[in-house]
Amino acid sequence: RENIFILGIESSCDDTSAAVLCNDTILSNIVANQKIHSDYGGVVPELASRAHQQNIVPVVDQALKKARITKEQLSAIAFTRGPGLMGSLLVGTSFAKSLAYGLNIPLIDVNHMQAHILAHFIDEDNYKKPSFPFLALTISGGHTQIVKVKDFFDMEVIGETIDDAVGEAFDKSGKILGLGYPAGPQIDKLAQLGNPKAYRFTKPKVKDLNFSFSGLKTAILYFVQDETKANPNFVKENLNDICASIQYTIIGILMDKLKIAVKQTGINHIAIGGGVSANSGIRKALKNAEHKFGWSTFIPKFEYTTDNAAMIAIVGYLKYLNQDFSDFDVMATARLKI
Ligand code: KG4
Ligand code: ZN
Repeated sequence: RENIFILGIESSCDDTSAAVLCNDTILSNIVANQKIHSDYGGVVPELASRAHQQNIVPVVDQALKKARITKEQLSAIAFTRGPGLMGSLLVGTSFAKSLAYGLNIPLIDVNHMQAHILAHFIDEDNYKKPSFPFLALTISGGHTQIVKVKDFFDMEVIGETIDDAVGEAFDKSGKILGLGYPAGPQIDKLAQLGNPKAYRFTKPKVKDLNFSFSGLKTAILYFVQDETKANPNFVKENLNDICASIQYTIIGILMDKLKIAVKQTGINHIAIGGGVSANSGIRKALKNAEHKFGWSTFIPKFEYTTDNAAMIAIVGYLKYLNQDFSDFDVMATARLKI
């Protein structure tokens, strides 16, 4: 059988990424991070869109060069249709459409949240892929979901956040502590040097498999304000312990819901995806759950956790096998559902 080459394009938020895949193997996965947002404490949509416009051509170029193929060898182009920021999505969508049209090859639209899950089907040495059905915990800056994955394109959201996403909980807590954006990776690093039980933050009571993180953020704000009144250097002197305690609380919230989801569904194969799945604490907690509860867990390589085009390309490949192509009038959709 002939090799299939897919170019994947991701531009849903603040990372411009392009990847080339040969069948289910990644040949290249280039990500241009947009540093500009760190000055603003969060992603500024207009700036993100403009940066995508500047980045997209060189990023695609690099992805093809690194994969050592020409664009004429491509079988199809896959792009993120949504969910995400409209202005950002439009850049990737328009670029993918024009290139596919120019090359006269199929265009494939990809759901970003499905891609975070299906990234587990990228072929890697020593990586065991999940089998169906499994549960996926997708945790990122924009989403927090527990998804029952019955087949590649048969997924059901069985729990999700009713307010902030878990990545936002990390980023907003970090902002209170004076850390730059995104704060998640910094909290992770500092937490490893601190005592997770130094401070206690109450977990929210939320029904069923849903999550809530906005209360935690407020609790942390009041806690820091109170302690700082007593000791102006409180945060500086106890930063590692504060970070460790915040991370411990967040991981506890996620693990509690996963345990209920396993009980409710009878499925104990768990995959994680999304930017927060890079977190060392959640990775450790899941590994522990293997011997503690007998779960099978699937933890992606770091480069496939935060936003990347490799995950878009693998979905492109899976849809290509089904001949599931898009019309050229397909629109970017900010609130696309799974
Ligand atoms: O999936 P992603 O790159 O973009 C979205 O689709 O949102 O996720 C970004 C989020 C940010 O909130 C960032 O702080 C968080 O993932 N993040 C982490 C870690 N690495 C990234 N949070 C906690 N620990 C980490 N190591
Ligand atoms: Zn994402």
